[in-house]
Order: sequence, then structure tokens, then C-alpha cells
Amino acid sequence: MNSGAIKTKEVRALEWTNNRLRLLDQTLLPTRVQYTELEHWPEVVTAITSMQVRGAPALGVAGAYAVVLAAQELKELPFGEFREMLQAAASSIAEARPTAVNLAWAVACTMKAAAPAANTVETIKLLLAEAQTIEREDIEANHSIGEHGSLLLPQDATVMTHCNAGALATAGYGTALGVIRTAWAQGKLKNVIVTETRPLFQGARLTTWELTQAGIPTTLIVDSAAASVLRSGDVSAIVVGADRIAANGDVANKIGTYGLAVLAKVHSVPFYVAAPMSTVDLATATGAEIIVEERAPEEVSSPQGVQVAPHEVGIYNPAFDVTPAEYVSAIITERGAFTAPYSESLSSGAQSRG
Ligand code: MRU
Repeated sequence: MNSGAIKTKEVRALEWTNNRLRLLDQTLLPTRVQYTELEHWPEVVTAITSMQVRGAPALGVAGAYAVVLAAQELKELPFGEFREMLQAAASSIAEARPTAVNLAWAVACTMKAAAPAANTVETIKLLLAEAQTIEREDIEANHSIGEHGSLLLPQDATVMTHCNAGALATAGYGTALGVIRTAWAQGKLKNVIVTETRPLFQGARLTTWELTQAGIPTTLIVDSAAASVLRSGDVSAIVVGADRIAANGDVANKIGTYGLAVLAKVHSVPFYVAAPMSTVDLATATGAEIIVEERAPEEVSSPQGVQVAPHEVGIYNPAFDVTPAEYVSAIITERGAFTAPYSESLSSGAQSRG
């Protein structure tokens, strides 16, 4: 098991260091680059709910390390009680955000890996090894996603992306931005069009920050400009990430993704979803079963702390939407790009290796 420091030249959203979880506080970007070190698992839950750390795969890695922190904190308890309290903490961590399956998946993986342990010391060792494996494998998966995805793009591609599915949303490199980074490295990419992604501006604040740091040509548009930009014929493909992909290929991702998928179909632009297999949830049959997180009304009425709507108005703030599989041209994973019928391609992909 490789437990050494992970080497990647992109920004790290999170890092295990000195038995603590070090997070880049994404609520402060792009104006402040500030890290916070967390020692107690409830602090990680707060970081997740407040979106200091966000993006499905990064949530999974944070959740896995939060379980390690919980075990470290409970280690003086008798083993039976330790196990019970650890399970309770793991459940709270897994439930911190409901839509991204990677969070519950990673917490379950760590708990399963530690199940054979005979004492607290061994439990902590196994939990940590599993969390580090999840982190390392996510970076490896993203590089493979980049390779598979870049093959789908034409020379001199202009790619539109939504929200942030980059290094910041993963253990490193990114999923949709992994495709973009690889295409750029291969000299295939002309420009990236980034939608601002209201209400929390992950596109404007995070994706443009990541891409400009990498020297990749980037154009920011407001969400409502997407239709006319797609109509212009200048966009080669849309590539987005995913929070949960159902067995039939329905995709939950940041609110606004479904609208882009419909526009892509109308304007004959390929619509690609880039995600690791850990985001594919074969236990969820269709998108209708996916729980879509609703977030605080203040995110809409006071974006970035600036009031733009009267306090009295009713607000609906779903954080995600579900794009039906029929709008998805391909799902790009570390095991290749899958196409419809997804109920067949995803389940055979889940069984295959490499
Ligand atoms: O609410 P967020 O910022 O966590 O939403 C993130 C997204 O929707 C991403 O597209 C998704 O998690 C994939 S990240 C590789």
C-alpha cells in the first residue's frame, strides 16, 4: 500500500498531514487562498455543509479522512464502545450532503476496510490506509478520464463546462477539467467557456481560477448566455462532472446542467459527463430516486453576501438537477467512455478493470 505523499502539480483541495485534514477553504476563492487544518471530525462535517470542501470526489476523500479523525478522537474508549461511536460518527459524516454518492461510498469503503481490525490501533491503521488509497486512486482515475475524454474532442476544440469539476472538486487533476487539461496538454484545445454557475459561482470563482492558473484560455459567461453561445456553432462539446449517475445513465449534477444538456441536443453539440466509477451508483435505478439537496434561500437572495432580492420573497434553491440519460452523448470514466444503452454499458464497466 502506498502511503507516501501524493505528487501532483495542480492545486490540492485537501491533504492529510500531521494526522489532520488540511483543506483549501473554497468559500474564499478566488480572492483568498487560505488553508484550514481540521483535527475533529465534526469540523469536517461543517466544512462539507458550508462548502469549504465540495465536489463529489473531494467530498468522498474528505469523508474518508473524517472517519480517521473520528477514530483518533475515540481511541481511548473500550473497543466495543469505540466501534459503536465510530459507526455513529461515520453515519453523520456520510449524511452531510445527500446527492454526491462519493461521500457515502467512501465512508462505507473505509468502515469496510477496518471491519477485520481487532483493536483501536489496528482500526485507525486500516482506516487511514483506505482513505489514502481512495485519494490516490481518484487522482489516477482522473488522469485516465482525461485520456479517454480527450479522444472525443476534435482538434482546436472549444469546450463549455459548468460548475467546477476540477482539481478543487477531486483529490487532484479533475474530471471534466481532467479532460480539458489533457486536451490542452495534447495541443487540441482552443478555448474553454465557463458558465458562472449561480448561486454559488463555482464556475466564476473556482473553474476560471483553476484554468487561468494552468494557463488555459478561458472565457467566462453568465449562465443565461449559454443558449446563444451554443447556437453560435462555436462550441465543440460540453463536458461536465457528476454527483451521482444512476444505473440507467441519468446524471445528477449542479443545477443548470439539465438545461445545458437540452440546449446541447437542440444545437447538435455533444454533451459529455466525466466521472469516476465511484460516482456510478448501480443501486439507484433511475434519476427519479436521487435525492436532490435543497440549500439555504440566502444563497439566492444574498449571493456572496450581497442582497439582491427582498427578504420576504419565497425562494427555491435546489443544488442539483437530473439530466435524463437520453441527453448524454457519453459517460467518460477511468474505464473508458460509455454510451447508450447505459443500463448495459455502465454495469459491464462496473465489472471490468482498467
Ligand atoms: O455543490 P457542489 O459545488 O459540490 O457541486 C459540484 C458539482 O456539481 C460537480 O460538477 C460534481 O460534484 C462533480 S466534481 C468532479
